[in-house]
Amino acid sequence: MRTITLYYSYSGNTKKIAEMIHEKTGGDIAQIDTVVPYGDDYNQVVAQGQDEVNCGYTPEIKKLEVDLSEYDTVVLGTPVWWYTFAPAIKTFLESNDLSGKTVYPFATNGGWIGHTFKDIENACRGSVVKAGMNIRFTEDRLKTPAADIEKWIQKIQ
Ligand SMILES: Cc1cc2nc3c(=O)[nH]c(=O)nc-3n(C[C@H](O)[C@H](O)[C@H](O)COP(=O)(O)O)c2cc1C
Repeated sequence: MRTITLYYSYSGNTKKIAEMIHEKTGGDIAQIDTVVPYGDDYNQVVAQGQDEVNCGYTPEIKKLEVDLSEYDTVVLGTPVWWYTFAPAIKTFLESNDLSGKTVYPFATNGGWIGHTFKDIENACRGSVVKAGMNIRFTEDRLKTPAADIEKWIQKIQ
């Protein structure tokens, strides 16, 4: 069984959690990133993100330097953007076939997770999608107790 932790992160929260998971589960880790970076103005990105989510935009993403066929377990991390996964994750899920794999999703957010996990489940037809971990932040401060995250990480196999 080989595990890879894949994540997208705009402002660092999801990256922090992905690294924590990777440290505990081992395996590999890779960051999903857009070819065109989002800007530094947070409020502008929030507005841009709303437009992108509303129209189902799929930004071009950088080629991953990993061969996904080598893994049977994928830990997939996304920030919540307008109640769902970030557009970069939408591109990733539409351009990669995770069928036959077990997917453990986690989503960092400010308290409004919306339909993120349902949407991941729908986008991962053919995969076994396990219960997701909802991880709350206030800006860059982790609000979800670390023990709850640990408990969820222990279920990854
Ligand atoms: C474009 C955009 C949309 C967001 N939409 C939501 C949302 O719908 N619900 C929520 O709780 N937080 C929302 N947030 C806050 C982020 O989900 C939260 O800060 C997350 O931890 C950021 O992860 P990152 O640092 O890995 O990018 C949004 C942030 C951005 C930039």
